Amino acid sequence: MAAFVFARRSKSVLPRISGTCSPVVLSAVPVTVQNRKIHHALIPRGKGGRSSSSGIAATVFGATGFLGRYVVNRLGRIGSQIVVPHRCDQYDLMYMRPMGDLGQIIFMEWDARDKESMQRAISHSNVVINLVGEEWETSNYKFEDVFVTIPQQIAKATREAGITKLIHMSHLNADIRSPSKYLRNKAVGEQAVRDEFPDAIIMKPSEMFGREDRFLNHFCNMRWFGKAVPLIALGNKTVKQPVHVVDVARAIVNAIKDPDANGKSYALTGPNRYLLHDLVEYVYAVAHRPFVAYPMPRPLYHFVASFFERSPFEPWTTRDKIDRFHTTDMLYPGMPGLEDLGITPATVEQKAIEILRRHRRFRYLETELGETKPPKTVAI
Ligand SMILES: NC(=O)c1ccc[n+]([C@@H]2O[C@H](COP(=O)([O-])OP(=O)(O)OC[C@H]3O[C@@H](n4cnc5c(N)ncnc54)[C@H](OP(=O)(O)O)[C@@H]3O)[C@@H](O)[C@H]2O)c1
Repeated sequence: MAAFVFARRSKSVLPRISGTCSPVVLSAVPVTVQNRKIHHALIPRGKGGRSSSSGIAATVFGATGFLGRYVVNRLGRIGSQIVVPHRCDQYDLMYMRPMGDLGQIIFMEWDARDKESMQRAISHSNVVINLVGEEWETSNYKFEDVFVTIPQQIAKATREAGITKLIHMSHLNADIRSPSKYLRNKAVGEQAVRDEFPDAIIMKPSEMFGREDRFLNHFCNMRWFGKAVPLIALGNKTVKQPVHVVDVARAIVNAIKDPDANGKSYALTGPNRYLLHDLVEYVYAVAHRPFVAYPMPRPLYHFVASFFERSPFEPWTTRDKIDRFHTTDMLYPGMPGLEDLGITPATVEQKAIEILRRHRRFRYLETELGETKPPKTVAI
């Protein structure tokens, strides 16, 4: 159906926006200034709510994931047109429909290995956002495919389509020397995207927390396995600086609007750094569950995880995830961050109750959060 709608928008009716708009409008919305045909509906108008037009037509690859729903929601509420390429059943996407005004969210099937479907998904957009990712490798898609090949192809297709705004999600700890294959491939992917599309905006968030996260929820769910939490070196050698998922989504939208953001990399972190041990202890305190941690040697932890990896369903943990979660978050003193995009990051203490209330035995118990001792922070 979506493909049909696009097919109906024949090229001849699309005015060249750079030639039809006044210079004032063009300078106000830099994302629309491109040497390609854009539908007249993209000329910004209205008061900025969901029924106005923000001038943004964004294709969000990976919109069905954890971060994706927040990005689509943020774009929809300012009146953007959003193309959601997906590979799941269309009924699994129903929750996304109310995030934008009527007809403003277009769903299209795509296959990451089909170049044509990728080109079709971006053909009417002036912004491309790549949120494609996976937590564990599958027999069909290895980390190299998801973090290097697919981003490179998206960057290439974006450049060839003449689009000037590409946002690529990397990871704060992306490093070619990392023990985690995920993070090594993220580093290679970052470079591949830069080579293909030098003006790409690269976002490097730390582990994100939010209601559907696989970070705080993961640690809290560990109570199902022996009522105690295994941590390498008791979590006393790992420092984490998690960031709230809403802040990352807002950073993406603000970077789209900022003409100076092109070509920059952003380190997106929360305001506080915590020892992993203290953070997990706090998670259990908020969830009103007893916290018992025990030190687990890395080789033994890997051995246990290798059994979970054989699961045909989502593995509870993997060797790679253990390495990633026990990697200290890097500091990038010179790199712009959330504040440079006009965002004051939220702390774990502010949002923990939203995420962890469902883990409480008596989840409707209105206990004051103030009674929970906040975790100690580590100096930056
Ligand atoms: N979560 C974090 O804490 C965190 C931290 C730093 C960086 N990041 C990065 O931020 C991005 C978004 O993270 P997230 O947590 O939202 O990821 P996520 O929940 O795992 O979602 C990944 C998205 O990518 C899609 N996808 C995966 N493999 C695909 C394939 N082979 N073909 C087509 N689509 C595919 C998924 O589609 P389906 O729904 O069809 O599977 C889903 O929409 C990722 O690049 C991730 O590496 C995440």
